[in-house]
Amino acid sequence: METRRPLLNLLLAGPANAGVTALTRRLAGEDGGPFSTGDNDCAAVDASADSAGILQRVMRGTVVADGLVLVCDASDRRFERFESAARLASVLGIGQVVVALNKVDRLATPDELDEARERVRRTIVRTGVDCPAIVPLSARTGGNVRDSADGVLGNDGPSLTDIISGFEAPPPPSGQPLRLPLTEAADGRGPRFHEGRLKSGVLVEGDRVVLSPSNVAARAARLRIPDGGRDAPTARAGDRVSLLLDAEADVAPGQLLSHVENPPVESDVFRAKVWWRRRQPLIPGSRIGADIGDRVVDAEVQSIDHVIDPSEIANVDTDRLSHGHIGEVVVRAPGMLALDTPATCPANSRVRFLDDDGVSAWGFIGMEGYADQRNVVTVRATNVTRVAHHVWTDARVARHRHRGGVLWFTGLSGAGKSTLAVEVERSLFDKGYEVYVLDGDNVRHGLNADLGFSPEDRSENIRRVGEVAALFSRAGIVAISAFISPYRSDRARARAAAGDGFHEIHIKAPLEVCERRDPKGLYARARSGEIRDFTGISAPYESPEAPDLVVDTAANDVASCVERVVAYVETVLSVNGGPGAPKS
Ligand code: ADX
Repeated sequence: METRRPLLNLLLAGPANAGVTALTRRLAGEDGGPFSTGDNDCAAVDASADSAGILQRVMRGTVVADGLVLVCDASDRRFERFESAARLASVLGIGQVVVALNKVDRLATPDELDEARERVRRTIVRTGVDCPAIVPLSARTGGNVRDSADGVLGNDGPSLTDIISGFEAPPPPSGQPLRLPLTEAADGRGPRFHEGRLKSGVLVEGDRVVLSPSNVAARAARLRIPDGGRDAPTARAGDRVSLLLDAEADVAPGQLLSHVENPPVESDVFRAKVWWRRRQPLIPGSRIGADIGDRVVDAEVQSIDHVIDPSEIANVDTDRLSHGHIGEVVVRAPGMLALDTPATCPANSRVRFLDDDGVSAWGFIGMEGYADQRNVVTVRATNVTRVAHHVWTDARVARHRHRGGVLWFTGLSGAGKSTLAVEVERSLFDKGYEVYVLDGDNVRHGLNADLGFSPEDRSENIRRVGEVAALFSRAGIVAISAFISPYRSDRARARAAAGDGFHEIHIKAPLEVCERRDPKGLYARARSGEIRDFTGISAPYESPEAPDLVVDTAANDVASCVERVVAYVETVLSVNGGPGAPKS
């Protein structure tokens, strides 16, 4: 077959006996060569033949997978096996996914088909994979593989090849967003001159650009391609350029240049979905060198989830990554990084772990469950000057006989934050403290009514509340904030806003306990897939590393938890015997 268009590489994967090989043959014929689906010319890779070998090559980047066909046996009741296959989409960083619900010719009734479809849908929601289509088909008869008129069990939706036809072959590097890692020009022409090689995209002289992670805006005032020794109006992926930057502020070293309208993600935490190559398992707390493409950062393994044994395509229930396994490692860096995922810029989405012996892991970057923090660290106001107060902090403290402060409650939904917050407020108020509760469910009706539960919205929620709590604290009041506040980075910013007056209090109860309490019925709805991004179920909760106080609500009743917090406040915030002491 003559191939005019770029080949769309399809990976077919599923549990053993789901029919991966039969379906690959149906699509690609006995010889397994390229085949056409209308809008695409495709090559199919059967991942069941040597799943470990093939998946490892995808992680290394030597096998490319642009789309994933997840094969599921509609009559198989052991759905965990399909769940681990579904996780592959996320781990391999493949955005275009379709489920082939195979063997539907073996089902007796349309009700059974509806049931199987519903099970697949729930599994897909749970894994967080974006997969709009579930196609019932029979690889054995060919029904609904190419032609939807075959109507397997009365199905009248699109066929598998109809769906694949809508997949897009990835753009070449020059068609992807601009990414140019910069170094200072070596020839000493000064701080405004920079050099680098375009990883992807196109840069035109005069373009408005932004440098990440410093977030400094600039204009590409002059562009030169030194190899040819010429000034050039345009540079493309692969070109080495020398650049004169007209920047609003100093350009720090090691920045990634992009267009203003299509920048990389900014975060100090990310998921590295990697294949681990060392005999010694990787465990939480390990230090690694994370090579994110344009630099290597010294980072820490915060946690490890979703470990898959690629030889069986099976989930492994563990928080360590053993030799040959693939898993999602949450990596924490010491500062902000500029990052991409396969969805934002494939050319810049690879990660490797390095140790003294070389490369210990290969894979992709992912941001599922984590926020692009660019907006919460960007200061947009200009020409503003601080106003000095004429009421001093000391005067407020002397009047109240206690310092202002922020009691920052953090914990899972259902851990007891709100219950304790209002009880502590009552108790402190009765003792004469100036105290006020800021509660998630309340603030989200007013100040933060515009925010939902995406990682970015949660970060913004906490940024605003952190600033408000800091204002209360400076006004001399004890602010009790009751928010899940699942991210360490957000809590660190809230601490920075309030300074010395910040007290992080972990309201702690195991997930199972919170789920059993389920006071608002939200956990049940999250488990059924009705609520997405639910903390603890389908969104992360990062426990405090060094909280100022831990209150265990699973082991203690409300009264003793309240007493513990109140006693803490009386120790750290009261002055001159506290507000209840007789006036001298
Ligand atoms: S935070 O993550 O941004 O700190 P916040 O504390 O304001 O969350 O709000 C949490 C409350 O919102 C929960 O107690 C629960 O009642 C409700 N809620 C609704 N959707 C979600 C969700 N997806 N995850 C967690 N809580 C949710």
